[in-house]
Amino acid sequence: MRTLVTGAAGFIGSTLVDRLLDEGHQVVAIDNLSTGVTANLDHARSRFESAGDRFTFRQLDIRAPELIEIMAAARPDVVFHLAAQVDLRASVADPLHDAGCNVLGTIGVLEACRHAGVDRIVYAASGGSRYGAPTALPVRESTPADPRSPYAAAKFAGEVYLSCYAELYGMSAIRLALANVYGPRQNPRGEAGVIAVFGSRMLGGRPVTVFGDGTATRDYVYVDDVVDAFVRAGRAPSTTRGIFNIGTGRQTTTNEVHRLISSALGATARPRYAPAPPAEVQAIALDVRRAEEELGWVPAVAVEEGIRRTLQWLRAGSKPELVEA
Ligand SMILES: NC(=O)c1ccc[n+]([C@@H]2O[C@H](COP(=O)([O-])OP(=O)(O)OC[C@H]3O[C@@H](n4cnc5c(N)ncnc54)[C@H](O)[C@@H]3O)[C@@H](O)[C@H]2O)c1
Repeated sequence: MRTLVTGAAGFIGSTLVDRLLDEGHQVVAIDNLSTGVTANLDHARSRFESAGDRFTFRQLDIRAPELIEIMAAARPDVVFHLAAQVDLRASVADPLHDAGCNVLGTIGVLEACRHAGVDRIVYAASGGSRYGAPTALPVRESTPADPRSPYAAAKFAGEVYLSCYAELYGMSAIRLALANVYGPRQNPRGEAGVIAVFGSRMLGGRPVTVFGDGTATRDYVYVDDVVDAFVRAGRAPSTTRGIFNIGTGRQTTTNEVHRLISSALGATARPRYAPAPPAEVQAIALDVRRAEEELGWVPAVAVEEGIRRTLQWLRAGSKPELVEA
């Protein structure tokens, strides 16, 4: 399969790139390196980037007009669109910048797809934010969208544009509504990466801050499971379309995450508590039956095991770009 991945130097994108290359596919990787780091692509570059090989990296903003030429030359069977501004609090502080990346950027990718005649596009939607604050959990895909932050609004606008292009140009579009993804390569500076943030600080013997009273819940899904969902979506028949929740259905509180990491590390320090920031959802978990039924996808890694693997990666953590929170 010829593929093009946007956001390829990021946490999820680079893990997807490695999996696609390991399965024998061709990958054109696009990233502007705003939060992504080239170290995430070391494996791909060292094994597959020599002349004529299956991997090419282009440092490029998805809004750049050159994307049209690159897409036309790559002629991908599948485009995986993951590039985005991913920081919810940054979107509140600077919604114009957020919408520039996440709305205009997505239109840029769709325009390039249209010019190149791409049939299948798989989009990283935000399952954690698109449903607002649903009362019935786990939430199904049929629950109306209710974005409550500029990030949620812009990511949902991306979904709407995807559906619109699918309708206008006959593209086969799949939107994967991801829960809270965690695992190796997640930047501990990120606002979403509570497991990476807590793990990195606690490994360094430093205190952690819980925003709110720690009872807020999230549906934590391990990055390899998420990448498996992208690969399945990429190779699904073109009649498979629409939105699929990708999570575990299980709610874990922030206090529980702290307890699980403490117990894995043998740490005893209690967290500090600080007021919860605005626009954050109190509880979320996703119903993933549709992905099970239509993509044959099930999450394989329980949160306890995923935390163990993430701590192992953080412990090995000599990545130069890995900045401690
Ligand atoms: N991590 C999660 O829990 C989560 C949950 C739901 C949805 N998502 C979505 O998954 C995708 C990947 O997220 P991630 O956690 O890997 O974040 P990330 O920040 O590690 O990856 C995003 C990548 O996109 C790149 N990028 C940003 N703006 C760009 C632009 N204008 N042009 C080109 N590249 C650009 C960044 O440099 C980065 O490498 C995003 O679309 C995000 O909205 C993530």
